[in-house]
Amino acid sequence: MKTGITFDDVLLVPKKSSVNSRKNISVKTRLTKNIVLNNPIVSSNMDTVTESEMAIEMARNGGIGIIHRFNSVEEQVKMVEEVKRAEGLIIPNPYCVNLDASLEEIKSLMKAKKVHSLLVSGTGKLQGIITSRDIRFYKNGNTAQEIMTPREKLIVGKPGISFEEARELLDKNRIEKLPLVDSENNIKGLITSKDILNQINRPHASLDTHGRLLVGAAIGVKDYIVRAESLVAADVDVLIIDIAHGHSDLAINTLKTLKEKFEVDIIVGNVATSEGTEALIRAGADGVKVGVGPGSICITRIVTGSGVPQLTAILNCALVAKKFNVPIIADGGVRTSGDITKALAAGASTVMLGSVLAGTDESPGELLTKDGRRVKIIRGMAGYGANMSKRERENVRSEVFDIVPEGVEGMVPYRGSVKDIIKQLVGGLQSGISYCGSTNIIEMQANAEFIRVTGSGKRESGSHDVSKI
Ligand code: XMP
Repeated sequence: MKTGITFDDVLLVPKKSSVNSRKNISVKTRLTKNIVLNNPIVSSNMDTVTESEMAIEMARNGGIGIIHRFNSVEEQVKMVEEVKRAEGLIIPNPYCVNLDASLEEIKSLMKAKKVHSLLVSGTGKLQGIITSRDIRFYKNGNTAQEIMTPREKLIVGKPGISFEEARELLDKNRIEKLPLVDSENNIKGLITSKDILNQINRPHASLDTHGRLLVGAAIGVKDYIVRAESLVAADVDVLIIDIAHGHSDLAINTLKTLKEKFEVDIIVGNVATSEGTEALIRAGADGVKVGVGPGSICITRIVTGSGVPQLTAILNCALVAKKFNVPIIADGGVRTSGDITKALAAGASTVMLGSVLAGTDESPGELLTKDGRRVKIIRGMAGYGANMSKRERENVRSEVFDIVPEGVEGMVPYRGSVKDIIKQLVGGLQSGISYCGSTNIIEMQANAEFIRVTGSGKRESGSHDVSKI
């Protein structure tokens, strides 16, 4: 019988390092065959982890968020659109109102779309612009025509304008918005000074070719066509086929159908074996997600008796994935930056995090207080709560015993902003790479040497013999 091991069962043996500073260590990596990230951190497609706010912050800080699928197609598409509009040099389809729009309509559109400016259009031609500052001075009953700064007072740019030209126009004229129009005054886009600043201040953000933040979205293996079609139309960068048992005909057939229909990169999971990995890669997967049962809220191994300890799963899947040059994502069970280093050293290209990110400002859900401590809720997507909500939304009547949960609900401590957590995780990973005598992830994978630890070795590894304060 084989033995399965996980993160706590091993350490990485320190190797001679020539690195002088952590800053010289690259954590750039591949999410899929075609998508590169500036760090290997992916936020999990769980409804207590990734909606648009999380995905925006993940991509701003060099990783990526995967929007969960426990929502309607419209809701999920709206979240992808929010990420795509959060940043980008050019907003290709800026939100517009007509000349006769009322102040109430203007305010509610700004609120619903979370934007601070609207273009005023008449049959697609630019008539003016309204910013949130303008509307403060008007009363209900006023129309867009009365509120807007009219076209003749606006500085505009041409559709093909470069980053430098746009920056110069905004700076020179001390303006914050630059509508783009063609020679016939048709609206062709909008550039904002905030977006220009973002591009300058965040050189490590994960961006698409239009300078917009990268975002992924999960889909299931039932009724997936409309969802996939709508997400692709919203310019999602990567789809994840999300199924607990990914080494299955259901997953493979879904993948093949989607690959025939769409150009987009597709990650499939979860699997925990080399056979599962190979089957998905041969069916066209651009990335494979690895992990059966390691997650903080998972009880799959208890309920089904099935699973593979996560480090063994990563090692086995990575061996095959490497042969095909397809990246794998280590999903579940990561608690520390040390676990991330181990997962990557074992052959994963990225890690997917649930509980580590669930307690942040950017995760969905309220901040609660329990025994005087601030906490947030995390729930397993195969758990009772998530499935009851889904059935309710889909108007499926069910009793408690109709659901066999493979996940639980729990609390995690409040941990502040995602940005700070990523900084800590990436810093720890960079140190870890240097301890392996390497300067980047690929080098570390070649140099890494794992050593098994005993129970006493494990105890020695954490803080011990002191009272923690
Ligand atoms: P962590 O440990 O990062 O794990 O919180 C997150 C991952 O756990 C998986 N997941 C589940 N697994 N039952 C399971 O067996 C569930 O209800 C469940 N919900 C999430 C998922 O892969 C996630 O990324």
